Amino acid sequence: MSAAVVDLSSRAVLVTGGARGLGAAVARAVVDGGGRVVLTDVLEDEGAATARALGDAARFVRHDVTAESDWRAALDFTLAEFGRIDGLVNNAGTSAGQLLEHETVEHFRQVVEINLVGVFIGMKTVIPAMRAGGGGSVVNISSAAGLTGLALTAGYGASKWGVRGLSKIGAVELAEARIRVNSVHPGMTYTPMTAPVGIRTGEGNYPGAPMGRVGVPEEIAAAVAFLLSDAAAYMTGAELAVDGGWTAGMTVRHLTGGGGPRSTPGDAGTSPGARPVAEPGVPGA
Ligand SMILES: NC(=O)c1ccc[n+]([C@@H]2O[C@H](COP(=O)([O-])OP(=O)(O)OC[C@H]3O[C@@H](n4cnc5c(N)ncnc54)[C@H](O)[C@@H]3O)[C@@H](O)[C@H]2O)c1
Repeated sequence: MSAAVVDLSSRAVLVTGGARGLGAAVARAVVDGGGRVVLTDVLEDEGAATARALGDAARFVRHDVTAESDWRAALDFTLAEFGRIDGLVNNAGTSAGQLLEHETVEHFRQVVEINLVGVFIGMKTVIPAMRAGGGGSVVNISSAAGLTGLALTAGYGASKWGVRGLSKIGAVELAEARIRVNSVHPGMTYTPMTAPVGIRTGEGNYPGAPMGRVGVPEEIAAAVAFLLSDAAAYMTGAELAVDGGWTAGMTVRHLTGGGGPRSTPGDAGTSPGARPVAEPGVPGA
């Protein structure tokens, strides 16, 4: 399944966390749209294999988004390979959660460092090159957990709300430089991050969302590709939920006490042990 619905020809895009999951689907969408992509990750073998599979328009470079020097190197690599940078997709992220009262300060800081500080350093590093190139598009991957409160996500949810806010700040500061900044808020999507908590794809397998199913990476990537493209030329500071309706509100089923994942994250959180975050709302996660 291809996500490309827009023209990205001649665009050079850096995608963090591109080795697998949503990032790999975004990288595929960029290439399918005619663009070139540098995908970065801490997973070297997986990242290199993903880039190889995408062909000559894709490159991989190891990059830890929490390290400013790695960001500089990833940007320099992109400019050396493609001569410009038109798009930045801040996608790398980590997800693990506990009840707030059991969350450790160390783990909270670690999640915020990757999910939020990493996005900040990325924008700060890339913006001057985009400005020099006449503009660009930054797409920050937040989460449905950045639009509403979700149990078991102290560090994760806080970081994703932060990404949403940082995107708005970028939007208002950078519009003059013709740099658009938008956030995307995926709901539960089937990736290596969420697969371990036992979600299943297919119709009816996720009654917690009004559409009744989890998303697939290509559906998120399609929204990202749109925001990268000129089809979104008048969009900046927007927050785009791609979540099967999860943040739109409650279904009749939930209103009438039918239960389901939307209402159970709190129940799932009675044990103090760490677990993958219900992203958003997987029972028993
Ligand atoms: N899958 C979902 O249901 C879902 C929902 C909402 C938001 N998201 C967000 O989408 C993004 C992608 O998630 P995914 O589901 O594809 O997960 P994933 O775990 O498959 O991919 C995340 C990638 O980020 C990389 N990464 C982690 N820490 C890094 C670091 N310090 N430096 C560089 N790379 C690092 C990982 O190695 C991995 O390849 C994340 O920001 C996640 O929070 C996912």
